[in-house]
Amino acid sequence: MPQYIFILGREPELSVAEIASVAQRENVSLAWQHVTGRFAQVEAELPADFMAQLAGTVKLAQVLGRLATSPSAVSELAGRTLTELNNEQCHFGFSWYGEGRPAWLERVGMQIKKAWRAQGLRARYVVSREPQLSSVVVAKNKLLPPEGVEFVLTPQAGELIVARTLAVQEFADWSQRDYGRPERDAKVGMLPPKLARLMVNLAQLNRSSGLLDPFCGSGTVLQEAALLGYRELWGSDNDAAGIERTTKNFAWLKERYSNITVEPTLKVCSVFDLAKRLSGRRFGAIVTEPYLGPPLTGHESRRRLEGIRAELTDFYEATVRALAGMVDEAGRLIMVWPVLIAGGIELRLPLLELSQRTGFVLEDLLPPQVPARWRNERQLLYYYRPGQHVGREIAVLKRP
Ligand SMILES: C[S@@+](CC[C@H](N)C(=O)[O-])C[C@H]1O[C@@H](n2cnc3c(N)ncnc32)[C@H](O)[C@@H]1O
Repeated sequence: MPQYIFILGREPELSVAEIASVAQRENVSLAWQHVTGRFAQVEAELPADFMAQLAGTVKLAQVLGRLATSPSAVSELAGRTLTELNNEQCHFGFSWYGEGRPAWLERVGMQIKKAWRAQGLRARYVVSREPQLSSVVVAKNKLLPPEGVEFVLTPQAGELIVARTLAVQEFADWSQRDYGRPERDAKVGMLPPKLARLMVNLAQLNRSSGLLDPFCGSGTVLQEAALLGYRELWGSDNDAAGIERTTKNFAWLKERYSNITVEPTLKVCSVFDLAKRLSGRRFGAIVTEPYLGPPLTGHESRRRLEGIRAELTDFYEATVRALAGMVDEAGRLIMVWPVLIAGGIELRLPLLELSQRTGFVLEDLLPPQVPARWRNERQLLYYYRPGQHVGREIAVLKRP
């Protein structure tokens, strides 16, 4: 059975939870072999479009072999792989995912390049100052199949696993969707598209079931769900301007991605009136980033932060109660919970107690093989953009 290496994004816990969830949704059985803060190694039969669905994985590579950590072993495997491509030219590079990239790796690369040139063939050895080549460098220098090879090397228990990169994240597309969409509202805070996609994936929802975002704002969750192929999308927000932004952004998305035909059903409505307005309709998943509280400067006193936390706790409890009747019995509620950060203080909402009071449990999506320190008592995943005063805990709520 083939083995793969997923190079994980900035929040590896989220990346791994997403891989596990997408595998579940797509009925792919994964045998987790090794998980670190940088990569996850699995044994699986992965469908060709697996990587394209993920938001938290930077690169996907297929394992070529397990070697002794020596220049000759790497040289032999890399040389053989490049020859078997049967290309007139060879483009290649090495990325080292472990402590201390060995100095001999450069020599191996230079020798391979020289050997090709000695036969009168073109060879391009791509190097970088960092131990790893970035996704941009890999794509721009044609190191992806079928043209070239990025060798991903991960030292494990005295040996070296060598893999070939099959795909890297579509960085230009992600950036366009984040910064290029016409309607952005920095004031209320926009969910980064990658986090929105990841949250939709955590819901493990069948594509024919309905998905609701009751705080849709600029529509990021709905857009990522449409790109993943969901066909029944609902959004609401109590601010008419939010619904207008969602409408415009969605139209923009459809212009760029001609395969999207779905149109979301949108309502201007407070979350507290929604159940009545939708007359008892239920959804397979609710995926949402609710109101995160007033914008913080980072200079708030503890007392002020505690006041905000108390207000938000009431708001979140009322929100979960309002949404509870709108999730299918076996459905999931995937939510952002704000973490308030100012002057070295970090305040979280009492989520465990609150979910119990509202009849939900927090689901743990991480496989047993993850490092022990990834699990906390709250069973929450965390997303934080450096410099921000609000962190985001990601809760996966289900009925017990
Ligand atoms: C943090 S923003 C969500 C942003 C959204 N995820 C996006 O990507 O643009 C929170 C949204 O909640 C809306 N909101 C606040 N209170 C609400 C309520 N009681 N019912 C419905 N929407 C509400 C705000 O208008 C705002 O658009």
